[in-house]
Amino acid sequence: MKTAITEMFGIQHPIIQGGMHYVGFAEMAAAVSNAGGLGIITGLTQGTPEKLANEIAKCKDMTDKPFGVNLTILPTLTPPDYPGLVKAIIDGGVPVVETAGRNPVELLGPLKDAGIKVIHKCTSVRHSLKAQDIGCDAVSVDGFECGGHPGEDDIPNMILLPRAADELEIPFVSSGGMADGRSLVASLALGAQGMNMGTRFIATKEAPVHENVKQAIVAASELDTRLVMRPLRNTERVLTNEAVERLIQKEKELGDDLKFEDIMGEVAGVYPKIMMEGAMDEGAWSCGMVAGLINDIPTCQELIDGIMSDADAILARMNGLANAA
Ligand SMILES: Cc1cc2nc3c(=O)[nH]c(=O)nc-3n(C[C@H](O)[C@H](O)[C@H](O)COP(=O)(O)O)c2cc1C
Repeated sequence: MKTAITEMFGIQHPIIQGGMHYVGFAEMAAAVSNAGGLGIITGLTQGTPEKLANEIAKCKDMTDKPFGVNLTILPTLTPPDYPGLVKAIIDGGVPVVETAGRNPVELLGPLKDAGIKVIHKCTSVRHSLKAQDIGCDAVSVDGFECGGHPGEDDIPNMILLPRAADELEIPFVSSGGMADGRSLVASLALGAQGMNMGTRFIATKEAPVHENVKQAIVAASELDTRLVMRPLRNTERVLTNEAVERLIQKEKELGDDLKFEDIMGEVAGVYPKIMMEGAMDEGAWSCGMVAGLINDIPTCQELIDGIMSDADAILARMNGLANAA
């Protein structure tokens, strides 16, 4: 399938693996790229430019296909060395960067000068238009369903994607709630040129996370995610567990007085224990409602091939319906 996104990124299928903290290592990105999608290394999981440079080199040893790096821009008191991370990306010859979190305008100059394509992940039409205005090449439109940070507007993709299609001139992919061939065809119907998946790619053979994480996703239904940190205007969709229920109880009790310090135990530094050690009740970790559609743990190749053949079959069926009419 050829779309503006496959052409822009030089990939076979219009499927992207979004950056994921403590999941987006070289093994994950290479497996997705080798299967014809666009794999993405998560820059901040590496943290320093030196470690990111090593991870990029490792990924290059594992695939000769294009892959990207995610740079999530966080409002922290001690920000990571973003200019150093950008330099590692440029020096490593990475062709695509996925930005997220905040307006990436300060990172764009050197990335564009190096000929790197930038896809910015946003949760609203107004942020997507801003990304277009500042010179991003594409947008990943992340609906309310998504695992991770859906923003504060709560607009699901059935509305957000056609709204984006009506307003944007640059190409965009759907993100949030995407799992299969149906998701891809629906995304194309709503105006996207491809789709981005997070949670679905965690439940694959190659995802470099503990087996407990994969099993938790397979066991979860669409009812098992919760929104946390809304009082801090940093809403995150996570899989429910003991720590999350405790966190929600604190949010109820403290109301508008809630501060980040009150919930540090449930959210700060928990990813390595969950993703690497499989300690599933250790804290809050991002997971999408799409867990309800995930029932297996295929290889990335099996997953992507299945999506593309199902999408072809759906398109043929729809074509049949149109011709019959
Ligand atoms: C475990 C996990 C960690 C994530 N970490 C990041 C991150 O560090 N930076 C980022 O931009 N997005 C992050 N995301 C969001 C994904 O890139 C993607 O936008 C989202 O998962 C799409 O929704 P879906 O899970 O329904 O497919 C994360 C998602 C998950 C599930």
